[in-house]
Amino acid sequence: PRKRLTVPAIRTRKGGEPLVMLTAYTVRTAQLLDPHCDMLLVGDSLGQVIYGLPSTVPVTLEMMAAHGAAVVRGSLQALVVIDMPFGSYEASPEKAFESAAWLLKQTGAAAVKLEGGEAMAATVRFLSERGIPVMGHIGLTPQAVNVLGGYGARGRSAAEAEKIAADARTIAAAGAFAIVAEGVMEPIAVAITREVACPVIGIGASAECDGQVLVAEDMLGMFERVPRFVKRYDDLGGRISDAAARYAAEVRTRAFPGAEQVYVPKG
Ligand code: KIV
Ligand code: NA
Repeated sequence: PRKRLTVPAIRTRKGGEPLVMLTAYTVRTAQLLDPHCDMLLVGDSLGQVIYGLPSTVPVTLEMMAAHGAAVVRGSLQALVVIDMPFGSYEASPEKAFESAAWLLKQTGAAAVKLEGGEAMAATVRFLSERGIPVMGHIGLTPQAVNVLGGYGARGRSAAEAEKIAADARTIAAAGAFAIVAEGVMEPIAVAITREVACPVIGIGASAECDGQVLVAEDMLGMFERVPRFVKRYDDLGGRISDAAARYAAEVRTRAFPGAEQVYVPKG
């Protein structure tokens, strides 16, 4: 197997071939996606996608650790990044370090991601200087849904656009090894990508970013409500529903199990 990608290797991809990133929450998904991805993100979107929670706000460190460990076990070559859940890092750099160190010890992942701009710069620096690589996340930050009031794209006003650019600049200067820019007006994404020294990974951002990330279930057609920025590469939801319907019909007509699926004594 190829050696797992490292944080410095990701950094050197700035301005080069776009970085490929998808979310993974389970071992099988990690196994399937790993050969195609530079990075796998254990996103706190698992709160909605696999636990049916109303937002990412209720997601816990324990949930992130359990899924993070599964994704590390299921992958060989992608860099695994784990989201720090809401409430585990905002209060202080020390609190963030304790939470992040625990996550990395529990899972074997190499890096964490946390949401926020200028207010999180000191925390990004504190972790980065103490052995924990940090990926930033700016623009539409879903953990702030109760402040933002929804999941609409960010940066429509000039003031908001300038704030997002300042967030990117500050988080990059604080030592983030990469930054996710989510749900921002395209010109802002382009400007940020050109300005900061680390790779900018877009989601609802721009094809000019240094890489792209999507929630795997969204692009596979496994999750019902998806934002405009999701492209559906498959309809797994429809295919699973179809398979279940065929199974149900065969059970009801006794077509399943067939001769190949039952154990028959010899002689
Ligand atoms: O939680 C998540 O899946 C994410 C990506 C959408 C960037 O943070
Ligand atoms: Na997230």
